[in-house]
Amino acid sequence: METASKDLIIEKTANSKIAQVDFDNLPFGKVYSDHMLVCEYKNGAWQTPKIQPFGPLSLDPTAKVFHYGQSIFEGMKAYKDENGKVFLFRPEENYKRFNISSERLAMPAVPEEVFMNGLNELLKLDSDWIPTTPGSSMYIRPFGFASGSGLHASPADEYTFAIVLAPSGSYFAGKVKVKIEERYSRSANGGVGFAKAGGNYAGQFYPTQLAVDEGYQQVIWTDDTSHEYIEEAGAMNVFVRINDTLLTCPTSDRILDGITRKSILDIAKAEGIATEVRKISVKEIIEAAENGSLKEMFGAGTAAVVSPINAFGFRGTDYDLPELNDSYANRLKKRMTDIQYNKSEDPFGWRV
Ligand code: COI
Repeated sequence: METASKDLIIEKTANSKIAQVDFDNLPFGKVYSDHMLVCEYKNGAWQTPKIQPFGPLSLDPTAKVFHYGQSIFEGMKAYKDENGKVFLFRPEENYKRFNISSERLAMPAVPEEVFMNGLNELLKLDSDWIPTTPGSSMYIRPFGFASGSGLHASPADEYTFAIVLAPSGSYFAGKVKVKIEERYSRSANGGVGFAKAGGNYAGQFYPTQLAVDEGYQQVIWTDDTSHEYIEEAGAMNVFVRINDTLLTCPTSDRILDGITRKSILDIAKAEGIATEVRKISVKEIIEAAENGSLKEMFGAGTAAVVSPINAFGFRGTDYDLPELNDSYANRLKKRMTDIQYNKSEDPFGWRV
């Protein structure tokens, strides 16, 4: 059945796949809902967006995304509360960042109406897919890429914006062991590290695989010039607790301005936790690990939520972190997820 307004065309699937899904055992990002939003940019304008059955997209082999990597994305989540009401968390931040990324990748900005109205209508249509088992949520993946063709190394003239929905469980199974990386770099000043460009992630896979082969799950990147300061962990920003102070490094050209990162900072301040946003050297972390003042490290991101790090490796030596009953990670995660799942007041006005 197809319905159309001037703002949105909706073509519903005749074959829902929902009965085949085991909602109690959801992996991260592998199961997709029945529908997706697609909107094309052609002849200098965004066309009418369409919600259609989830399925393959057809592209020219010379679509510039394949050759020159013009591709960006966002990560968001929808949460369902005990009464079946659905919430987003700071979605306007994702929308803003999407267009910060698109500008850096020389792609046309997506209008707010296309992004927000498209997302809301898609979530309404597939709301039965939003999981309610503890720790699960609907992972939302808005993405954009150059669908226009040609082998000239210049921006495409056609683009596709799309949103898919993936009911998902945790990103990491359990605690995370990370390797502090000194040889490879994730990003450089003047580059695209601050953007959610697909290529930022592709470039991490090889060094991360080397770390995985050594028994780690993730890499903590260091700055590309001195390799003396930690930056981010690729799929998440990084927090370090030394004594009772919570530290994270400032965002920059090289570091993603994480929405979870800034929310955690605001919640920590509201909880009366001392916070510092400043450069954090590897030397400082190792000294703190050795003298016992390094209490915690954790990652924070939409997919990762708040993921405690239980050990880190540097130059072949592993440093274990203590198990704390009253960790900042657990406390801040609970405060944030209580807001997200509508289990507490939202003093910050983040829930939508
Ligand atoms: C997210 O946290 O949503 C991200 O975009 C990170 C991604 C690598 C899963």
